[in-house]
Amino acid sequence: MQTLHNTLEEMFARLAPQCLRSSKTCVVAGLAPAVHAGGSWAFSASAFATAGALGAAALLANRERQQKAPQCEGFFAPCKGNFKVCVCGGSGGIGQPLSLLMALDPNVGELSVYDLTVAMVPPGGVAADLSHLEKKVKVSGYAKSLEDKAVNVLGDCLKDCSLVLVPAGMPRKPGQTRDDLFKINANIAKEVVEACAKHCPNAVVALIVNPVNSVVPAMAELYKKKGLDPKKIVGVTTLDCVRANKFVGEITGVDPDDIEVPVIGGHAGVTIMPVFSQDKHAAKIPESQIPALDEHVQNAGTDVVNAKNGKGSATLSMAYAGARLGKAVLAGLNGTPTTECAYVMSDVESDMPYFTSKVTFGKAGVEKVHPVGKLNKYEETRLNEAKAALKKEIQVGLDYAKETSL
Ligand code: NAD
Ligand code: LMR
Repeated sequence: MQTLHNTLEEMFARLAPQCLRSSKTCVVAGLAPAVHAGGSWAFSASAFATAGALGAAALLANRERQQKAPQCEGFFAPCKGNFKVCVCGGSGGIGQPLSLLMALDPNVGELSVYDLTVAMVPPGGVAADLSHLEKKVKVSGYAKSLEDKAVNVLGDCLKDCSLVLVPAGMPRKPGQTRDDLFKINANIAKEVVEACAKHCPNAVVALIVNPVNSVVPAMAELYKKKGLDPKKIVGVTTLDCVRANKFVGEITGVDPDDIEVPVIGGHAGVTIMPVFSQDKHAAKIPESQIPALDEHVQNAGTDVVNAKNGKGSATLSMAYAGARLGKAVLAGLNGTPTTECAYVMSDVESDMPYFTSKVTFGKAGVEKVHPVGKLNKYEETRLNEAKAALKKEIQVGLDYAKETSL
């Protein structure tokens, strides 16, 4: 019976994306003016930020089916969870489509959309919009003025949350590095993390905000100082895996759904280290093509920043990737251990207190941080390069945490 079920499930998983791809769709949307907390974020794509997300939801659902869920009723129905999730920065370029994708997750019973009162769209408006989806999820919006302290006003928003996704923060402009965002974004993250520490200390806090390499160590160390579990703080690097799978698919002609390239290290420049040798399709790519492919993955974020020409960085692909990570966390909490690459407190590599490798999410959040596994000669050299760069970026976070507390 189990074999039949697996076969049907695999057939379904293979057929669904083909059906989805069988017709071409063009989405046309307008640009809406955006207001930033400091008044300097010029324009931002609004409507089109959410437009691609429904298709992304279907593809995510397909990928999810490949991890086995416990069965409750009938062949295909997994036991649904009823978790409360918050998206901080939920009115932003990533926040809106990410909120949509999380609202569609059958494991989500309640969704808080949190942003500033000066955000491009009031979070209450995003919530009102999402609350009409024909799903069980109850969606509420929460807005905070610049004068208020998050810890004082986010009680209802965060209470009972199991997962807090954080795309709140400034995106890059062409010419900037992710490091250039540390000063402003670390303080935004700290405000959110401080509120989580008070109102939902057991929630997994998934930080999307850049620079991930420094912000995550900073926030995890602040949690540790406060006596909380630093492994509740998780850096979202899933977009690097998504990109690596896509680019390998383009070269090999294999469906990216069947490709799983682990990307280890961190999330900036040379710290982004795809391990092509560990995927059976990527491993067949000629050695001579690997350095260029590696750089393509490393530079993909910058390519999007340049293509958006000062109007932001990756939002839709990031929402897809953030939802993939969010769904993995919820699946784990709901009793289906699920593995994704993530940047967490780690001891899998000597001298690297924070590192991205495969992480299994279980009933308590991070359950197992996996070693990097077998590397080839090229990858061993790359690992040393990645570690040297990442060490400096971790130190920035550790220094921040030394000087402050929650
Ligand atoms: P955006 O400007 O479109 O949205 C950010 C949102 O955060 C805005 O709605 C803003 O009002 C809100 N915000 C700002 N300060 C806040 C605060 N103190 N509390 C609550 N909300 C606040 O930006 P975006 O394109 O969505 O990018 C967000 C962040 O994600 C950036 O730092 C970007 O670099 C990062 N990012 C990370 C990855 C990754 O792979 N980890 C990928 C893409 C983008
Ligand atoms: C990305 O990789 O797309 C993000 O980190 C955003 C950026 O600034 O590149």
